[in-house]
Amino acid sequence: MTIRCAVLGLGRLGHHHAKNLATHQIGGAQLVSVVDPMEGRAEQFAKEFDIEHWTKNPDEVFEDPRIDAVIIVTPTSTHADMIKRAAKNGKAIFVEKPLTQSLEEADEIIQTIKQYNVICQVGFMRRFDPAYAEAKRRIEAGDIGKPIYFKGITRDAGSPPAEFIKHSGRVFLDVSIHDYDIARYLMGAEITSVSAHGRVLLHPFMEEFRDVDQAITYVHFDSGAAGDIEASRNSPYGHDIRTEIIGTEGSLFIGTLRNQNVTLLNSKGSTYEIIPDFQTRFSDAYRLELMHFIECVRNKQTPKVTEIDGKVNLKIAIAATESFDSGKTVHIKGECLEKSY
Ligand SMILES: NC(=O)c1ccc[n+]([C@@H]2O[C@H](COP(=O)([O-])OP(=O)(O)OC[C@H]3O[C@@H](n4cnc5c(N)ncnc54)[C@H](O)[C@@H]3O)[C@@H](O)[C@H]2O)c1
Repeated sequence: MTIRCAVLGLGRLGHHHAKNLATHQIGGAQLVSVVDPMEGRAEQFAKEFDIEHWTKNPDEVFEDPRIDAVIIVTPTSTHADMIKRAAKNGKAIFVEKPLTQSLEEADEIIQTIKQYNVICQVGFMRRFDPAYAEAKRRIEAGDIGKPIYFKGITRDAGSPPAEFIKHSGRVFLDVSIHDYDIARYLMGAEITSVSAHGRVLLHPFMEEFRDVDQAITYVHFDSGAAGDIEASRNSPYGHDIRTEIIGTEGSLFIGTLRNQNVTLLNSKGSTYEIIPDFQTRFSDAYRLELMHFIECVRNKQTPKVTEIDGKVNLKIAIAATESFDSGKTVHIKGECLEKSY
């Protein structure tokens, strides 16, 4: 059975997902529609990749019974409405992170998905990245003993435009949430408290949105472990993603700055090309997560990363934002934490 898909939002990441589908990188799926309200964006994509339908209006896709699944890559502030409309029309849903921006909306989403009995996967793609998957395997095999400290660095080569920042939910929700998710996954433990700090270093326009371009979250886990998570939009040298897990019997690193495994030696020294952006660093992960989604739709299975993880990660990000705003450590109550790894 071929799963007929529509991609909503053709911006920085939506274009990447849509191209993966349109160029048949995702077995068992066919891209039949693309949606974007921006003048010419969907039309141009449909012409370039020979897609049968394009529109500026998401309702056309939600109401089309020939479409089985939607890939939602629109601004974060639109996710809740999009997910609920898709679920009510019986579509399988892949939605980019974060699930949404408030816990009330997350609860409504969870309830709607349950009510209409549809599949929902959230785009925490690091879990599908071959290096993170290998790290998980090594940790579970006991190669570093018991994990006791998590260190995460996520540095973007620059800031997205003001219009994106305005709808992003601020840095802890937009950037650090990737590390909160992978920290829970790799440490095999839940985050119980956060203490968050940050500052605007290079992008003064962010002050209008109460956002910062350099942030740190110090976290405690229910296993007794601790960690720190840096998020930055100030990395002029490239896209820098590094993770370290310290265990009782060793340590494990994930990530390299090298784009290709080529080192140039000349009279200026020894150099290599640095990974330029997230699309390059996570190109395998973006493909593998969509393959997993399509397999789950075809086999009517629950995806590895669902709306439940979406809510837990959201809860941590909201607590971190609260901690940043108040200057206090925020404890995350246990009743809502649900193990999903
Ligand atoms: N997983 C990741 O690594 C990752 C990376 C980047 C972005 N994201 C997430 O993906 C989402 C999109 O981010 P982006 O960087 O691609 O944003 P973007 O601003 O580059 O693109 C958003 C696109 O959505 C379109 N759009 C706006 N409203 C729409 C609507 N109602 N219906 C259809 N299209 C609409 C815009 O015209 C634009 O083309 C965000 O939620 C973001 O958090 C995830």
